[in-house]
Amino acid sequence: MRVYVLLLGLLALLASAQDPSQTGFISIDCGLESNSSYVNPGNRITYAPDAKYIDTGVNQIAPQNFPEGIRNCYTLGPVIRGGKYLVRAVFSYGNYDDRNQPPSFDVYLGVHFWETVAPLDLSRLEIITVAQNKSLQVCLVNTDKGTPYITAIELRPLPDTMYPLVNASQSLILRDDRTNHGGSEITRYPDDPYDRIWFPADNQTGWKPINTSAKVSAIDGDEFRAPSAVLRTAVTASSLAESINFTVGTSGEKSIYLIVHCAEIRQLQPNESREFKILANDERWLGATNLKYLQSWYVYTLPPGQTGTVTYSIQATGNATIPPLLSALEVHKMIHMDTVPTDAADIDAISEVKKYYNLKAWMGDPCVPSNLTWDGLNCSYNEFENPRIISLNLSRRGLGLGISPSIANLTALTSLDLSHSNLTGEIPGDLAELPKLKFINLADNQLSGQVPKILLEKSQAGSLTLSIEGNSRLLTEENPHEKKKSKKGIILAVSIAAPAIFIFALVLVFTLLRRVRKKRLDTAKCIPPEILGKERGEQNRNVNSDGNQYTFAEILHFTKNFSNQIGKGGFGIVYLGNLQDGTQAAVKLLSESSTQGVKEFLAEAKILTRVHHRNLVSLLGYCNDPSHLALVYEFMAQGSLAKHLADNSSENSILSWKIRLRIAVDVAQGLDYLHSFCKPAIVHRDVKSTNILLSEDLTAKLADFGLSRIFHDQRCYPSTAIAGTPGYLDPEYYQTSELNEKTDVYSFGVVLLELITGQPPIINGLQKMSLVSWIHAHIERGDITAIVDQRLHGKYDINSMWKTVEVAMACTTHNSNQRPSMSDVVIQLKDCLNAMAFFDSSSNLNAQEESLLGVLPSPLSSGISPLLR
Ligand SMILES: *[C@@H]1O[C@H](CO)[C@@H](O)[C@H](O)[C@H]1NC(C)=O
Ligand SMILES: *[C@@H]1O[C@H](CO)[C@@H](O)[C@H](O)[C@H]1NC(C)=O
Ligand SMILES: *[C@@H]1O[C@H](CO)[C@@H](O)[C@H](O)[C@H]1NC(C)=O
Ligand SMILES: *[C@@H]1O[C@H](CO)[C@@H](O)[C@H](O)[C@H]1NC(C)=O
Ligand SMILES: *[C@@H]1O[C@H](CO)[C@@H](O)[C@H](O)[C@H]1NC(C)=O
Ligand SMILES: *[C@@H]1O[C@H](CO)[C@@H](O)[C@H](O)[C@H]1NC(C)=O
Ligand SMILES: *[C@@H]1O[C@H](CO)[C@@H](O)[C@H](O)[C@H]1NC(C)=O
Ligand SMILES: *[C@@H]1O[C@H](CO)[C@@H](O)[C@H](O)[C@H]1NC(C)=O
Ligand SMILES: *[C@@H]1O[C@H](CO)[C@@H](O)[C@H](O)[C@H]1NC(C)=O
Ligand SMILES: *[C@@H]1O[C@H](CO)[C@@H](O)[C@H](O)[C@H]1NC(C)=O
Ligand SMILES: *[C@@H]1O[C@H](CO)[C@@H](O)[C@H](O)[C@H]1NC(C)=O
Repeated sequence: MRVYVLLLGLLALLASAQDPSQTGFISIDCGLESNSSYVNPGNRITYAPDAKYIDTGVNQIAPQNFPEGIRNCYTLGPVIRGGKYLVRAVFSYGNYDDRNQPPSFDVYLGVHFWETVAPLDLSRLEIITVAQNKSLQVCLVNTDKGTPYITAIELRPLPDTMYPLVNASQSLILRDDRTNHGGSEITRYPDDPYDRIWFPADNQTGWKPINTSAKVSAIDGDEFRAPSAVLRTAVTASSLAESINFTVGTSGEKSIYLIVHCAEIRQLQPNESREFKILANDERWLGATNLKYLQSWYVYTLPPGQTGTVTYSIQATGNATIPPLLSALEVHKMIHMDTVPTDAADIDAISEVKKYYNLKAWMGDPCVPSNLTWDGLNCSYNEFENPRIISLNLSRRGLGLGISPSIANLTALTSLDLSHSNLTGEIPGDLAELPKLKFINLADNQLSGQVPKILLEKSQAGSLTLSIEGNSRLLTEENPHEKKKSKKGIILAVSIAAPAIFIFALVLVFTLLRRVRKKRLDTAKCIPPEILGKERGEQNRNVNSDGNQYTFAEILHFTKNFSNQIGKGGFGIVYLGNLQDGTQAAVKLLSESSTQGVKEFLAEAKILTRVHHRNLVSLLGYCNDPSHLALVYEFMAQGSLAKHLADNSSENSILSWKIRLRIAVDVAQGLDYLHSFCKPAIVHRDVKSTNILLSEDLTAKLADFGLSRIFHDQRCYPSTAIAGTPGYLDPEYYQTSELNEKTDVYSFGVVLLELITGQPPIINGLQKMSLVSWIHAHIERGDITAIVDQRLHGKYDINSMWKTVEVAMACTTHNSNQRPSMSDVVIQLKDCLNAMAFFDSSSNLNAQEESLLGVLPSPLSSGISPLLR
């Protein structure tokens, strides 16, 4: 007996030595009992029971108790973050519920919708994806069409170079099965070291199976590595005149990718040629192609038209003497992994809470998708950040432990309800540090110790509603030796104190504002640029330096009753107008005109009409009708910088690096003027690429300066409200609410980064990220080509680029004291521009430079060209 076992062991060892390694394979048989695992004799893969991969959900053997929640997840791991994986889920119904009716349900890979499992006896889903984290989750979601079930889950690592279409933002879902033409058996591990499953294709009339026993080897850099066992068999057309036709896709389906595998398995005679071409829907897809003997070959692409069914036809060319051949096919559908998961820090914190209270029903992502938010959570969803957890309600769950310290790490929390839950222990003082927390309910627990003083203070100041009644052992700070004050006491204190403090604060703010405002109106003046000399910009000659006041009737006339809308800004809609003298103008009708403060506004606008600089959009006049505030600006023919940077319509529309630098210098000069030559300095507050306008000759001018100040200071907002645009907002200003010129320097730095990278200020990846953090992450690796706008095709001087990146980094330093002034920035950027001039003359780009829009010859031919090897 011993000997027998030893022998078996030896055999197994020998077998595994021959097989490619199973390293990284995760193979789960979801029906196994928890202490068993087995080796599948067919493929020698070891399958494990699912117990250690799930928190809830019950396996196939005991489906009666399934499910505990609407969503049940398997967590597969550990995997390598950023690694490529094939994940396969198998659903084999087997009438486990005696209903003889297979259910239908949804399957998610993490937060990303994968597929709906059809009500079939056997379904197999397969996806090739890049792991975003150290684990991958497969989640089954009950959609009220029967109880979800799963039979097996398989995860196989793939080399990064395989399936190059798959990256962090896109995955491939296998459509139908992989077909092995001419084969007669299912091929998978160990013949395919990546354990893809290749099914023998149905025999088609007119297709002739052929095979070889020789080994077919992979060509260098093979991106798909179809195994030799699959490529050893093939079908050929029955004659030279016949073609191999097959159809792919279903109507309306998009992003279907086809991979055609072929290998020559016949030693051709000198007078033989198997040259072939491929047509797609009767149009040329692939030109004349020859294969190498016993070498892999493939072609893949999007089918023409991208939607619906496509019929492919592999045909012999005129030179061929033997008919064409086909070895194997794969059809995939591409999906974009653009569902944004919950904020990572929130996930960490709430996962700790989950662990602490052992809440097994919480599975998958806490907030995503929004209709599967964890029970007891509310989340906020917005465009600029990942979903955040804003409320946590664990009341009446009989938790019976302390207050989880990790709750204090849920930094977006506004409401916390832990009432009626048998909680013991003390109240963590950290809770007071949650900046947005407005509501805490800890009533009817067995909490003890002292209520943190700061919570009581906040509650008394009215910024927090705190309920702690029904905790007989809880003490308040004031009388540590007595029992806490009655509930009434606190509420009374709160209701008296809060309004009083609020009114006092209001009066204070108003008084301060009045003073500041008065002072500014008396003194706000800018040194006229002509006094500064030519260097600082010329005066715009055709502008009446006092500015014009227009009546609303005139404005209506200029704009032909607001008939031509040309834009929409932060403060209102912009219309095209023609002034009396025929000059074109942009007329901004202010949307906030119903509020008070019109008088001050008009006074300030009058001053702004006197601020002229060649890099500031001139305010030509304003409408003095108190119920319709309108501003009349000079018209900027080329629109905003943001529009230009986002424009991908043609190679010609890409701004060259030199023009980008020139724009940067222009804007810097405009800002420098506002900061250094206006007393008191005018802080723009909203520098961003949509506020930078380009004239016909691409001179950049800053728009809307001074406006933020008028609006935010004096009317709708208290002076402490943070104004600005996400992505451009100075983090220090955000924290301290202290506004100064350096706030503009930060935003300018972001604009500079946009010019360098061509990316928007907030990058919408899997994890939303500001452009600034993105750059910091990349620049640490010292790789500049990874950050520079690819559309420049490397046409820039590397020194000037580095220097510009340095300026941008300095401008976006967190600490405002370390940021340069705009005057410094102007000097630095001019240096960069000069370096670029040298680059141009030394590399013959002058013609391009003077055409201003940087026309580059396109190296890419348009249309769909198959990616050939
Ligand atoms: C698994 O454990 C159960 C109970 O501990 C036992 O009855 C059963 O025989 C075990 N199965 C295997 C395959 O070891
Ligand atoms: C993935 O590839 C597509 C197309 O090749 C590309 O547009 C996209 O930026 C890539 N995503 C990542 C995260 O690299
Ligand atoms: C497929 O067809 C060929 C003849 O065309 C035949 O020899 C072969 O046995 C068929 N294979 C199967 C699996 O039916
Ligand atoms: C290979 O082809 C021969 C006939 O040409 C056939 O007898 C044999 O079964 C085929 N082998 C395989 C593995 O298909
Ligand atoms: C295959 O497709 C080609 C091109 O569409 C067509 O001319 C030919 O008749 C088709 N052959 C068969 C057998 O369907
Ligand atoms: C056939 O081959 C010759 C030389 O090998 C080549 O010049 C010719 O273009 C080919 N014709 C076709 C139709 O591919
Ligand atoms: C190639 O040459 C051989 C004789 O050398 C002949 O038998 C065969 O028919 C030829 N094949 C073709 C396609 O012309
Ligand atoms: C990645 O996984 C770790 C634990 O493995 C977790 O703490 C973290 O929140 C995850 N990140 C995301 C973005 O899901
Ligand atoms: C959630 O919403 C999506 C789309 O809005 C829907 O397809 C899905 O069925 C919903 N899931 C549940 C469990 O309601
Ligand atoms: C709270 O704890 C007490 C005793 O520890 C227990 O009797 C009671 O049932 C618990 N209440 C809840 C709601 O779990
Ligand atoms: C809160 O988060 C910080 C940093 O993310 C971490 O170091 C700390 O352990 C967390 N605290 C708890 C109680 O989870």
